[in-house]
Amino acid sequence: MKKQWWMETVGYQIYPRSYKDTNGDGIGDLPGIIEKLDYIAQLGVNLIWICPFYKSPMDDNGYDVSDFYTVDGLFGTLDDAKELIKQAHDRGIRVILDLVMNQTSDEHPWFVESRSSKDNPKRDWYIWQDGKYDKTGNMIPPNNWASFFEGSCWNYDEHTNQYYMKIFSNKMPDLNWENPKLRMAMAEMSKWWLDLGVDGFRVDAIAHLAKDTTFKDSTMNVKPGHYAPDWRKFSNRDRLFDYLAEFHDEVLAHYDCVTVGEVGGGAQVEEAERYAGYRTKGFNMVFNFDHCWKNGAFEDEGRTKGKLTTDVIDLKTTLERWILGSESKVWMPQYWLNHDHPRVVSQYGDIGEYHRVSAQMLGAVLLTLPGTPFIYNGEEIGMTNVDYESVDEFRDVWVRNFVPSARKRISEEQILTHLRRASRDNARTPMQWDDSENAGFTTGIPHLKTVGNYKTINVKNQQMDENSVLSMYKRLTQLRLNSDLKDVLIYGKFRLIQKEHPDIFAYRRYVDTDEVVMIANFRDTKVMFDFEYKKYDCVCSNFENSGSDFLPYEFRILRAKGV
Ligand code: GLC
Ligand code: CA
Repeated sequence: MKKQWWMETVGYQIYPRSYKDTNGDGIGDLPGIIEKLDYIAQLGVNLIWICPFYKSPMDDNGYDVSDFYTVDGLFGTLDDAKELIKQAHDRGIRVILDLVMNQTSDEHPWFVESRSSKDNPKRDWYIWQDGKYDKTGNMIPPNNWASFFEGSCWNYDEHTNQYYMKIFSNKMPDLNWENPKLRMAMAEMSKWWLDLGVDGFRVDAIAHLAKDTTFKDSTMNVKPGHYAPDWRKFSNRDRLFDYLAEFHDEVLAHYDCVTVGEVGGGAQVEEAERYAGYRTKGFNMVFNFDHCWKNGAFEDEGRTKGKLTTDVIDLKTTLERWILGSESKVWMPQYWLNHDHPRVVSQYGDIGEYHRVSAQMLGAVLLTLPGTPFIYNGEEIGMTNVDYESVDEFRDVWVRNFVPSARKRISEEQILTHLRRASRDNARTPMQWDDSENAGFTTGIPHLKTVGNYKTINVKNQQMDENSVLSMYKRLTQLRLNSDLKDVLIYGKFRLIQKEHPDIFAYRRYVDTDEVVMIANFRDTKVMFDFEYKKYDCVCSNFENSGSDFLPYEFRILRAKGV
């Protein structure tokens, strides 16, 4: 493994829509991010990933792009984007954009052409198929594959009497990567942004570019009238790796950039190497989702009342599986949440009495794991899930699709509980800057309701408090990037300690003669953890304690004596 600049970064993900609004329209914008660059620099991160700000009808908040070369008016102008890149660079912060390669908006001129007739030259830039007929002679989709956003992954288009494929919403037709012209158009677009000065990309939904082009039905068992969530039909398929190698040769090989692919659809750790191995022509790292739902919130669908319990053994062994499986083969990104997940303090921490210490503990774990950590905006102050009282307050397209079908199997109360625990809107509420109306995010009406706790949980309060979550995140980024622990925290090996412990997540990081030990209590109760404490000094913690009894959500970062 060759050391690279992007291994020595801490990333910070920004959801522009909800970060900072400067013109009072209730939607965050690029000038808002520029305004906050000093704050971001003070946090100690040196890389930002900005979610899509391309021109878009915003069916899926910008992941439905209608022009890759234009900044959507809601967010600002191309000049704002250039200014943002420049000002970030002036502060030593690299900038990566979200590259959306799997689909466009149905309002993208390519799709408008494609849909216009069967012999249009762009017809084959998307995936069109004839429908089938059921026993009663009704036309049905070409096959039984499900979409990620409920229902079929096909949408009928009256104009040419065919179906187009769309694994997300109806307004997001999938591109046909089998078509070399389309592939070249995507390569050109990517180069255009790199030439403009961006430092790389988070590559959206990359696992899905190649589909099973036989389009045969899934043999998965599903109830009649239901679609099969057989993600392998369009995820992590062999053909995809040819596209990636080509993209690498055409684009990535010519720039000193970093790429982080998002690989869903059940990617296994062995596959990470195919995407991003040190010897692979592909990306530099890939995000997987395996550690994200270890309190069972997703499957539970609001059926269990009260607080869910984190399965700590499952959480740590899942992380371990990826970390050890990647060792010497592929560099990993680490994260607790992104814009598609609940807030981590609500999920694995506590939002009552232990809010502050549990958010700090989670930050400390994130920043001491191997790989490149990504903090999601608001995580650094312990922002929480929404407190909405009605399903109507949610805005996400996934929620709009989920609710009607969920009503057939769970109660209204369960739906609301589920959305408050699992919906993507939890991460998309306005950033909580201060205790003024709407948390200082906007002077207008925010596009999504602000969480009520902004009066206490906000940046301004925490900037003045050296014991705050924010102050802890600053200490942790310093430890990782600017202290003599840098080497061991970035490049050290990782081994779990007392793997079977049901409540404590503990591990060693070591390199040459240096060794750091992290011990974190994931429970809201006191927990015992026997360890050879005498051999270590404490370098960072959220309590003053040195015994083997760990207080609720206590963590300690220890370093071997005599290094
Ligand atoms: C990714 C994005 C998500 C989006 C989807 C479709 O999973 O993170 O927000 O809805 O891709 O582009
Ligand atoms: Ca705005």
